[in-house]
Amino acid sequence: MQYDYLVISTSLNPESNSRIMAKVVFDELAKKDNAKFIDLKDYPLPICDGDSCYADKNVQELAGLIGNARCVLMAAPVYNFYLSAAAKNLIELTGRAWTDKLVGFLCAAGGRSSYMSVMNVANSLMLDFRCLIIPRFVYADGSSFQAEQITDGDLQRRIVELADTARRLIEVAAPVAVS
Ligand SMILES: Cc1cc2nc3c(=O)[nH]c(=O)nc-3n(C[C@H](O)[C@H](O)[C@H](O)COP(=O)(O)O)c2cc1C
Repeated sequence: MQYDYLVISTSLNPESNSRIMAKVVFDELAKKDNAKFIDLKDYPLPICDGDSCYADKNVQELAGLIGNARCVLMAAPVYNFYLSAAAKNLIELTGRAWTDKLVGFLCAAGGRSSYMSVMNVANSLMLDFRCLIIPRFVYADGSSFQAEQITDGDLQRRIVELADTARRLIEVAAPVAVS
């Protein structure tokens, strides 16, 4: 199955803020478009060893889902001024599946200062896999959430803006997925 938009929630925390953002952007895209949501919590993965990990069933399934999407929106926690190890591990495990994708990010952080944490991953996707990175990252700290809801209207607006930008760019940037 091919998807125009694949939204991946990569936090393994059951009370994740980035998952809340992932669901909001998915609901927005799914109103008009062919979109799929997946949660990394549902796909236990090995740590990438560059060898036998690629034979893992979940790795292969995720690589297939990413490979068959035109745009991937990754929601991720900021850990140690970087995206979380789980998010990075997903990219290591699925590598070439990312080739030529339009890619966007929604990052949840504890504070306001880690907004550049996505850049290493963005650079690596550009350099290794020629991804086009949507130059509009959604970044939010804990003050925008309460009781598993977004309480900050501006964050809600920025998530919709990311979806709209993805819709605009996908037609010019992302080749139609090949099955
Ligand atoms: C191991 C660890 C490292 C973290 N490092 C940072 C950091 O560098 N900068 C920051 O702003 N928040 C940091 N945080 C806070 C998380 O970004 C915050 O809890 C965020 O909500 C995590 O995303 P999630 O809710 O989607 O899991 C860290 C949290 C953990 C557990």
